[in-house]
Amino acid sequence: MRFCAHAFAAVAALTLFLSPSVAQSGTPVAYTDPDTGITFDTWTVSETLSTGGFTFGMALPSDALTTDSSEFIGYLLCSSQNTTSTGWCGVSLGGTMTNSLLLLAYPYGGSILTSFRYTTGYYLPVAYTGNAELTQISSTINATHYNLIFRCSNCLQWTQGSESGNATTSAGLLDLGWAQAFPAPGNPSCPSDITLNYHDNGHNIWAATLENAPNTSYTDWAALAKTTVKGRCSTTTGSTTATPASSTPLLARATTTPK
Ligand code: HEM
Repeated sequence: MRFCAHAFAAVAALTLFLSPSVAQSGTPVAYTDPDTGITFDTWTVSETLSTGGFTFGMALPSDALTTDSSEFIGYLLCSSQNTTSTGWCGVSLGGTMTNSLLLLAYPYGGSILTSFRYTTGYYLPVAYTGNAELTQISSTINATHYNLIFRCSNCLQWTQGSESGNATTSAGLLDLGWAQAFPAPGNPSCPSDITLNYHDNGHNIWAATLENAPNTSYTDWAALAKTTVKGRCSTTTGSTTATPASSTPLLARATTTPK
């Protein structure tokens, strides 16, 4: 398994080097969120490769380059085409769409809803049944972008039925993937029951070098993650019924973008 992960990292790195169509550099750009003070390694997909651009960022526990972390603090900055096509975006925590833990996010009703997904083929991923957990730290939504900062617990190792996989932070290099779509998900109020169209605003894999992600303030930052936004699911569908657990509605405010 470890060999496979390293072999894949090597292939991904080589692809990154050789392919002119590659999404973005694996070299991170350090970005500190002004509201929370959290510093991320960020990787940005340019507007030419995905309309409106896309940025993913990661902060990790201080020892993550020597001891594999099962969690991270994430940063997502995704694009909406207009007020109707508010879209969705996602990351693959194993690089490929298949056999990796997928996280997708989309704006809806003034909040950003999220769903963990998994698939063994290139079709609509099903809801992930493992124990990954997402708690929000902050979110912003405007007409063109939405931004989510979140703690992702049990996200760097995954199990779905008989399949399992992991991302090894101690390698200093993660295989990650991104995908972005223009249309909003169908049935958006219930993240576990959404329908999706293909990611028509791009996708790709990149080999993400970890540089500034580990930080001694990680534990303090992780403690900022207090909000669980579950959406609203009908009891008749068999999904968890939930209203946003936050006592503070996540309202739109100005988005700060990394340069
Ligand atoms: C209806 C839903 C979806 C369909 C039909 C779909 C289909 C596909 C197809 C056909 C490819 C390969 C394209 C190519 O080789 O050029 C692909 C790649 C990819 N998809 Fe999806 N996808 C869906 C949802 C998702 C979601 C929810 C995510 C992440 C949250 C995701 C992440 C990716 C990534 C990272 C790639 C590039 C890596 C790879 O080829 O494995 N996809 N998708």
